[in-house]
Amino acid sequence: MLKPLPLLAILLTMGAPALAQPAKVIEARQANFKAMGRAMKAMGDEFRGGSPDIAVFRTNAATLNRLAPDLPKWFPAGSGTGAKTEAKADIWSKPGDFAKAAANFAAAANALNTAAAGTDIAAVGAALRATGGTCKACHDQFREEKK
Ligand code: HEC
Repeated sequence: MLKPLPLLAILLTMGAPALAQPAKVIEARQANFKAMGRAMKAMGDEFRGGSPDIAVFRTNAATLNRLAPDLPKWFPAGSGTGAKTEAKADIWSKPGDFAKAAANFAAAANALNTAAAGTDIAAVGAALRATGGTCKACHDQFREEKK
């Protein structure tokens, strides 16, 4: 004979898992953002150097393009509190806007990766600026800098 109550309890637990370690989630996503920051800086530095090396763009654009599609997953419900996070509550109260900001970035990173596969440095520069614009757009709306 099936006992409905324990089964229901199990289903409820499965449907709404509590975030066990928000601090770990926050740390992991900040590490990913730091890697993105390093990638952007490495590419920006190439343009300041005089003779940009396409290989540097290929490597770093690939990093951004690899991380970008996963970005929304770095913000599970319950990971918005804690002294160290700069994530604004709007991420969870305006999920559509946040998803759009993430998608804009992913599209820009993809276009940058495509440009970096070619040899047109000017096109890479334009794609890099566009990508930087999508970082800033999301930060303006969803990140509160504390440090
Ligand atoms: C869709 C939104 C979004 C996009 C796009 C985005 N960021 Fe962020 N970024 C955030 C949020 C939110 C935080 C704060 C995370 C936290 O503290 O928990 C953050 C934090 C950071 C940090 C600080 C990490 C730390 O704590 O040391 C850096 C650096 C960063 N982002 C760089 C970038 C770069 C570079 C890009 C683009 C290539 C980018 N971000 C794109 C939302 C975004």
